[in-house]
Amino acid sequence: MKIILIGFMGSGKSTLGKLLAQKLKVPLHDTDQILLEVSKRKSIPEIFEKEGETAFREYEIAACRSLRNNQNCVISTGGGIVVNKINLDYLKEQNGRIIFLKTSWKTVLKRVGNSKVRPLMKDKHAAKKLYDFRQNLYEYYADTMIDTNDISPAEIVNEIITKLNYSREVRGH
Ligand code: S3P
Repeated sequence: MKIILIGFMGSGKSTLGKLLAQKLKVPLHDTDQILLEVSKRKSIPEIFEKEGETAFREYEIAACRSLRNNQNCVISTGGGIVVNKINLDYLKEQNGRIIFLKTSWKTVLKRVGNSKVRPLMKDKHAAKKLYDFRQNLYEYYADTMIDTNDISPAEIVNEIITKLNYSREVRGH
C-alpha cells in the first residue's frame, strides 16, 4: 500500500511522514524534496522568486508523476498538492490511500506563521483565504481524515495505522 499525507502548511505532513515510514519500515518520499532536486534550485522561495508559482506547480506535477509507480511507501506532499487534480491521480495510482491531516488555522499560525521558507505564508490574509478554500479540496480527495490539533505525533501515527487496517478489512483488500 502507498500512504499519501495531505493537508495545509504546518499540518505535520513531513514530521508524521517520517514517523510513519519508520514505524512501517517503508521508504518515505517527499514531493517538495523531489521537485527541488528536479528544479536544480536551492530552495522553494528561490523557485517562486526566479520562476514564479506556475513553474513551481509544474515541478510539483512532475514530482507526483515520478512517484506513480512506487509501491509500499509513505509520501508527504506540499500543501498545494490539491490545486491540480492530476497530482492526486498520479499519487493514487496503484492503491494509494490519501490521509488528510486536518489542522486549525490557529495551529497553522503557531507552527509556520513565521516561516521563511514558505512564500505563501508571507501574506497572512491571503494565506487564510487559501486555507479556507483548500479545506474542501483536502476533504474531497481524502480517504480518511485525522484531526491533528490536540494529539501527539505518535498517537496520530497509530491512528493512521488503525484506520487503514480497518478500512482495508471493510473493503476486502
Ligand atoms: C505550499 C506548501 C509548501 C510548499 C510550497 C507551497 C502550498 O509545502 O510546497 O511552499 O501551496 O501550500 P508544506 O505544506 O510542506 O509547507
